[in-house]
Amino acid sequence: MKMVMQKLLDPARRAKGRLHQWRADRARAKLLRQDMIEGVDPEELDASLRDPTRYYYRAFQDYHRTLPEALRAHRDYFSLNRRGFGEDAFHTMWWRLIRRYQPKTFLEIGVYRGQTISLVALIARLERITCDVTGISPFTSAGDSVSDYSEDIDYHDDTLRNFQHFDLGEPRLVRALSTEPEALDVIRERSWDCIYIDGNHDYEVVQSDWSVCAKAVAPGGLIVLDDAGLNTDYQPPPFATKGHPGPSQLASEIDRTQFGEILQVGHNRVFQKSAS
Ligand SMILES: C[S@@+](CC[C@H](N)C(=O)[O-])C[C@H]1O[C@@H](n2cnc3c(N)ncnc32)[C@H](O)[C@@H]1O
Repeated sequence: MKMVMQKLLDPARRAKGRLHQWRADRARAKLLRQDMIEGVDPEELDASLRDPTRYYYRAFQDYHRTLPEALRAHRDYFSLNRRGFGEDAFHTMWWRLIRRYQPKTFLEIGVYRGQTISLVALIARLERITCDVTGISPFTSAGDSVSDYSEDIDYHDDTLRNFQHFDLGEPRLVRALSTEPEALDVIRERSWDCIYIDGNHDYEVVQSDWSVCAKAVAPGGLIVLDDAGLNTDYQPPPFATKGHPGPSQLASEIDRTQFGEILQVGHNRVFQKSAS
């Protein structure tokens, strides 16, 4: 009975998927044709908090019109054969953040095939910043309640190959769940300038990641929380997503006397630890 229902449902699901893809492609093409969105200064990060939707649209346009070609080539590479997730506007976000804050140490929790850590390393190279990049991840198909990953890939070796593709120095990769002792030791071993939390999106895990990272990030340092846009005014276009309940709830609970929100690009929200 279940099989019969699945067979009946599958064509409907596929049709829904095709319709969604068609809407997404149409919205992307429209935004690409439009004049550059005026009245948003992308370097004024506060503008993203006042009007996150407009700021996101502009970041998308900036990706296609003003970002260095090397960064578009990087995203093209990771978009091929499903090497990565993310959205074009996020490349713009990292470009602005890394240039402005010049982190010397960068930690990502939740590495898939290395798109974000290699992007940070690439921007650092373009900007002549020395930045040590570390990633903590199981490097297996272990996911969470909102993700599924293929079992056929060695994610660890694949990440290293992707770094080699861009001639980037080898990152430090820690094969562990962020909640395991080995990972906690790595997070606590130094004061980080920038941490990106994008591992398990279930509330309990995000909450645990935030609590250990909030202590480990340097005064004035940044934590970027992925998939945390559900409780904000941001209205994503059809080719983007607003986030998941776990990170979004956590974002609402952050102690704002300790962490000020400085930027939102789509479902990515950036918090800066107070300097004292
Ligand atoms: C959405 S992907 C992150 C993509 C990443 N931002 C990138 O650019 O490569 C989430 C990743 O987190 C990993 N993950 C799942 N649970 C984790 C945990 N508890 N700690 C660390 N990583 C975890 C998954 O295996 C997956 O590779």
